[in-house]
Amino acid sequence: MLVYLNGEFVSREQAAVPVEDRGFLFGDGVYEVIRAVNGRFFTAHEHLARMEEGLAAIGMRLPGGMTRQGVLEIAERLLRENSLTEGHATIYLQVTRGAAPRTHFFPSPPVEPTLYLTAAPFTVPEEVVARGVSAITAPDVRWSRCNLKTLNLLANVLAKQSAVEQGATEAIFVRDGVITEGASTNVFVVVDGKIRTFPVCNYILSGVTRGVVIELAAELGIPLIERPVRVEEISRAEEIFLTGTTTDVLAVVEVDGLQVGTGRPGAISTALGGALAERMGQVPASAAR
Ligand code: PDD
Repeated sequence: MLVYLNGEFVSREQAAVPVEDRGFLFGDGVYEVIRAVNGRFFTAHEHLARMEEGLAAIGMRLPGGMTRQGVLEIAERLLRENSLTEGHATIYLQVTRGAAPRTHFFPSPPVEPTLYLTAAPFTVPEEVVARGVSAITAPDVRWSRCNLKTLNLLANVLAKQSAVEQGATEAIFVRDGVITEGASTNVFVVVDGKIRTFPVCNYILSGVTRGVVIELAAELGIPLIERPVRVEEISRAEEIFLTGTTTDVLAVVEVDGLQVGTGRPGAISTALGGALAERMGQVPASAAR
């Protein structure tokens, strides 16, 4: 597998960052995951805009005059040279504040940021999507700048591990009695025929897929409001679903061991999942293999 690191395309085995890289020492950086279908990126500019906002928010920039277009060209080359231009793939993109002797404050003078991109094949787990998944709830112990897609994912990692240990797929974070988002997804809940999801603010990531799904719901005439859902409302939810770049629309059919709705993916998540696949220009699974 060929990866990109600081201006060079090298094999993954050869790619190495200095031990003083601030991504390694502090989680000091941001990342993105972008989906590609048949060599075409889906919502790439939304991801790159979010990355730029994240970089600006933490006083960082892309290295050496690199532009959004430059990043896309690297990503395209990674798809091409790793034979990922047919079917589904993902691009992982990470920028750190660079390598410098360890100080909590920013390196002074500044050092060149580290830019790393890698591509990977992706398979839509059709059987899982058809069945739906289970989730657990977990206290949202994260910091209060969850709108930034930073490398600091320890709270997410621990919550996801808890889910896995309990045989579940996702951990749904609960802060002050309301659902915020999943460990790596946004969460939507259907109550009284209306979709509800936590509003965009500093307590969630403004998911790119979330944005597309909100648009699709409007197009399909499905009522949706950005209003928090209290954890006790889960018991009367008709449907719950997750969205994300590597999740698409995924129904949650059980939360903390209790069945959601009929225990099968509902009509709304199924319709939105279909509409998202269409928007993505998704190839049928058989053709993607
Ligand atoms: N995660 N919320 C969190 C905390 C996330 O980490 C993600 C994405 C999302 C969904 O955002 P989007 O639709 O833009 O992918 C919501 C990525 C895929 C990851 O960490 O691998």
